[in-house]
Amino acid sequence: MTRIFVTGTAGFIGFHLARLLLAEGCSVHGFDGMTDYYDVRLKQRRHAMLRQNQHFAATEAMLEDTDALNRAIDDFAPDVIVHLAAQAGVRYSLENPQAYISANIQGTFNVMEAARRCRARHLLMASTSSVYGANTEMPFAETQKADTPLTIYAATKKANEAMGHSYAHLHDLPTTMFRFFTVYGPWGRPDMALFKFTKGILEGTPIDVYNQGEMWRDFTYVDDLVRGIHGLMGVVPGGPETAVEGDSLSPVAPFRVVNIGNSEKVRLMDFIEAIESEVGRDAIRNYMPMQAGDVPATWADATLLQRLTGYRPQTPLRDGVAQFVAWYRDYYDGQQHDAPPPPR
Ligand SMILES: NC(=O)c1ccc[n+]([C@@H]2O[C@H](COP(=O)([O-])OP(=O)(O)OC[C@H]3O[C@@H](n4cnc5c(N)ncnc54)[C@H](O)[C@@H]3O)[C@@H](O)[C@H]2O)c1
Repeated sequence: MTRIFVTGTAGFIGFHLARLLLAEGCSVHGFDGMTDYYDVRLKQRRHAMLRQNQHFAATEAMLEDTDALNRAIDDFAPDVIVHLAAQAGVRYSLENPQAYISANIQGTFNVMEAARRCRARHLLMASTSSVYGANTEMPFAETQKADTPLTIYAATKKANEAMGHSYAHLHDLPTTMFRFFTVYGPWGRPDMALFKFTKGILEGTPIDVYNQGEMWRDFTYVDDLVRGIHGLMGVVPGGPETAVEGDSLSPVAPFRVVNIGNSEKVRLMDFIEAIESEVGRDAIRNYMPMQAGDVPATWADATLLQRLTGYRPQTPLRDGVAQFVAWYRDYYDGQQHDAPPPPR
């Protein structure tokens, strides 16, 4: 049974990845600090659901707690490590940049050190489309330069890519970095647009629409995303002979960067209309200027993912939105236990 250590399992993506890995017959050890960036009850529920599977166990501790992290990794002796825990969110990084330095720089370094010591077969870590920063050439491809991050969030993730490359080179530690593009779906994050828009439309309260709605995002359905991660787990970067056409594989290290995106640019207004039609009610739109550090558009070239794994995301936006709205209704209306959290 393959042993996978996953950080961030109480988080949105980590939860879905752990569920998929358990369904695939893996043994999973989760690690999550249950931070209060958003409603901790949601994180507790995700972990409680995972714990129903006998092949899942978790350590609830911070990445910065090296003793706890090392102990968890040494005890579990993983084959593969997937590092998803992070301080996420573009906008919050304007308010509390320190949280990003701590979790994403120190925390990621601690994971890399532990991966080196336990001689993991493959280390996979989350980066973000935000590293494309001010790039305007679209769709974004992994081989383009990405040297213009616009927020501390993006800068810490770009730093993680550089850190990962150095450890891959120095310690021959095969490392894959994913660049995720606006992930959405059931059990999603309360600080993200789909959650806030659904809540606002259902409650009849205004939703903030930035840049007067002139925004485009490459929305990636979470089931597609975790399938992409799962596929990449088995594609271990090695020497130049492991390269495919258009690869981002480093010439000096077993290291590559891979976009996981839907490869479709969706206008924010069309996204809102999809939610309105699913909820059956119109949104009250509060038009706002562009936020500092935000980019008008993201759009993934997902060719490399397909070449490496044979897989590409495929869920149509309307189907994914319908899945989210159904989950939201069931979770907040049906169970009557938690009020949806106030927006951050
Ligand atoms: N969701 C997206 O659209 C998206 C897009 C691009 C990149 N990403 C990246 O994907 C990863 C997962 O994101 P997500 O959407 O699931 O976010 P999430 O916030 O739901 O999950 C992250 C988890 O990490 C934990 N965590 C945070 N700081 C920690 C620390 N210092 N120590 C231990 N645990 C800590 C949190 O408690 C949380 O459960 C992150 O690295 C994020 O930057 C996400």
